[in-house]
Amino acid sequence: MGCRDLSFLPPTIFTALFFLLFPAACADLTYSVPEETRSQYVVGNIAKDVGLGVQGLSARKARINTEDSSKGYVDINLNSGDLIVVERIDREVLCGPRINCILNYELVLANPLEVHRIFLNIQDINDNAPRFLNEHINLEIPESAVKGQHFRLDEAHDSDIGQNGVNGYSLENNDNFVLFVKGNTENGKHAELVLDKELDREQKKNVDLILTVVDGGIPQRSATAVIHITVLDANDNVPVFSQPVYKVVLAENAPIGTEVVNVSAEDADEGANGAVTYEFSRIADNAVQLFNIDKVTGEIKVSGVIDYEEEKYYELRIQAKDGSGLASTASVVIDVTDENDNAPKIILTSVNNPIPENTVVGTEIAIINVQDKDSGENKQIRCSINGNVPFKLNPSIKNYFSLISTNFLDRESDKDYNITITATDGGSPPLSSSIIIHLSVSDINDNPPVFEQQSYTAYVMENNKPGTSISAVTAKDPDWRQNGTVLYSLFSSEINGVSVSSLLSINSDTGVIHAVRSFDYEKFRDFKVQIVARDNGSPPLSSNVTVSVFISDENDNAPQILYPAEEGKSLMTEMVPKSALSGSLLSKVIAVDADSGQNAWLSYQIIKSTDPGLFSIGLHSGEIRAQRDITESDSMKQNLVISVKDSGQPPLSATCSVYLLISDNLAEVPELKDMTYEESNSKLTFYLIIALVSVTTFFLTFIILILAVRFCHRRKPRLLFDGAVAIPSAYLPPNYAEVEGAGTLRGSYNYDTYLSTGSRTSDFKFITSYNDMTLTAEGTLKKVQNDTLAASLITLNNTTDDDEVRTNL
Ligand SMILES: *[C@@H]1O[C@H](CO)[C@@H](O)[C@H](O)[C@H]1NC(C)=O
Ligand SMILES: *[C@@H]1O[C@H](CO)[C@@H](O)[C@H](O)[C@H]1NC(C)=O
Ligand SMILES: *[C@@H]1O[C@H](CO)[C@@H](O)[C@H](O)[C@H]1NC(C)=O
Repeated sequence: MGCRDLSFLPPTIFTALFFLLFPAACADLTYSVPEETRSQYVVGNIAKDVGLGVQGLSARKARINTEDSSKGYVDINLNSGDLIVVERIDREVLCGPRINCILNYELVLANPLEVHRIFLNIQDINDNAPRFLNEHINLEIPESAVKGQHFRLDEAHDSDIGQNGVNGYSLENNDNFVLFVKGNTENGKHAELVLDKELDREQKKNVDLILTVVDGGIPQRSATAVIHITVLDANDNVPVFSQPVYKVVLAENAPIGTEVVNVSAEDADEGANGAVTYEFSRIADNAVQLFNIDKVTGEIKVSGVIDYEEEKYYELRIQAKDGSGLASTASVVIDVTDENDNAPKIILTSVNNPIPENTVVGTEIAIINVQDKDSGENKQIRCSINGNVPFKLNPSIKNYFSLISTNFLDRESDKDYNITITATDGGSPPLSSSIIIHLSVSDINDNPPVFEQQSYTAYVMENNKPGTSISAVTAKDPDWRQNGTVLYSLFSSEINGVSVSSLLSINSDTGVIHAVRSFDYEKFRDFKVQIVARDNGSPPLSSNVTVSVFISDENDNAPQILYPAEEGKSLMTEMVPKSALSGSLLSKVIAVDADSGQNAWLSYQIIKSTDPGLFSIGLHSGEIRAQRDITESDSMKQNLVISVKDSGQPPLSATCSVYLLISDNLAEVPELKDMTYEESNSKLTFYLIIALVSVTTFFLTFIILILAVRFCHRRKPRLLFDGAVAIPSAYLPPNYAEVEGAGTLRGSYNYDTYLSTGSRTSDFKFITSYNDMTLTAEGTLKKVQNDTLAASLITLNNTTDDDEVRTNL
């Protein structure tokens, strides 16, 4: 087989050369046939090409042999000598991507055997469309990819070759990518996506593009694939807060856990890049304990005690951070609102304590200051005083109040005050607080001692022991301590020339009055002293009271017989006319008693007589009367012993003798000489007679004077008559008590009148006033000082008891 395979040469040139070099034995035949022709498609006329003609072929039994056991796609139509296609030829199946697709056949001729090589060149037709292996192209491109970056796409495949193979790619219009095609027809073309504009995942997470591939055949075939681009996230977004500043109003004392605000920040990134955590980026020291923030939710909560009074305003800076540390901040401004949680406070700034009771009305006593830590209405404070106290609050500057008095103070009625001051704020509900100011009122010596009685009366028996307490006075002084300490003293004065201090003394502390000496009723019956009660203040205040001291009588004086002289001493003889009839007054015993009242109430009795039954004596008058007519037979000399007794307990008495001479003629009485005065008595008697005469003279003059006065004032008779003698009461001392009848004494015993009653013939009275007389220590008789007395007064001293006073009536 000397024929060579020349299939690699183009058919025509090959054939010509072949025939020149090898003219007889091995003439090769070359044909081209497009693939996919119909059956019976005529590739060429072999008969002609071999130069045998149709008959020759048939004669020589021409037939086609398949080399390499290839499939017999072609055969000879012996009738026409044509090479025809008998079976569908698919170049792609036969040759794949090979460019030259040549089937080798042999034309075998018999008689003589002749072999011609036939090269059947299969020509490609564009019967295959390009094709993507994967119609879905998934790409993941980070959004951070920079412009110009290439992303290789899968190459499309076309079973056809040459022009019919992949010719180009095109990309659907889009914002981000352009297509760049690389490679050539021989080695295949592929496309690359080129980033023309950067991706933003946050805008578009996915990009879908249609990639079209075309071949170069006619008609052109194409295919598409979908490029699905997933944009990968890059942490290119910071978290963004929903507000740059969160303004919140928070009430103070909001309980722990109260939500203040929920901040939130969005991060457009995804995953960790978009996971936001929150924290405080700047927080004042005083707020650290008060607020906390939830890292994840951004919820800010109260975690401590929010006190408006401590801080009214907080500003927190919060940071939101994503997973890779991109952060942004925002502010939370918290305005704390006031709650009325503070009671007002009262501060006693100054106080004058104690205050003197003579404080004038309106004096400022204390200054108080009120404070409330709250604000606004909660800080508006009203102050008041509870209860009924004589003080009020005057608003002063700002939060100051003055406590001033509104009335006079009197320590003696209110010695202290508890002033409760209440301050109430204006919150709702209001809060209040109060303080008590304890105010003492200090004493001023404004009260003089006051005696419990307006006057005091003391009675003391005469002959008391010196030092006896006779009475007590009490004075009260409500002032304090020495201002209320009472000291008693006697107001020094004189009583009848005697200093009171010689009569009485007073205990200056107790007010008990003592007698200094023994009193004698017959000297003083009463007197008045002034007691002064003085407090110890400075200056002291005092008051006084009158104490009337009355000395009570004791029967310490026996009756004294003035006439006749006492028994044994008197020689006086009374003449009785012989013709004296029964009942006629013959004589009279005159006795006095220095005591008073019952003690001086005298009764007379004849205890012994010469002729009992001849004479009688008036029990109280002392008048001696004839009991029967005197007869001649009666003894001339009659002797009576008379006892005078007072009515005291026990009674005291005295006796005297009366000598009666029944005679009409003095000469008949020879014994009269014997009855002359004793020498010792004559001198005194003489003086007494002179005194009596002068007193009688004075008395008569006075009577005349009275009568004259009486005539002048006839229309207004002011004279009191008692028997024959009238003593004008106007002339009597103020306490004079009249004697109305026998035995009846009236009124006080300051003045006592003793009188022999029942006698119409004896026209005088003895009036004795001890009160107005002054006794001398020596006991001498003194002229009565009270000249206005109508009666003649006889003053006696106790010490003159022995002296005999005789009055001749
Ligand atoms: C004031 O209070 C004091 C002490 O509590 C008490 O001893 C006093 O009696 C009170 N004074 C008045 C006037 O209530
Ligand atoms: C007594 O009163 C005077 C003023 O009259 C006063 O100064 C003094 O303090 C008072 N004494 C006492 C113990 O209260
Ligand atoms: C006694 O008090 C009265 C008034 O109460 C006064 O007029 C008189 O002077 C006082 N007498 C003496 C002795 O103090």
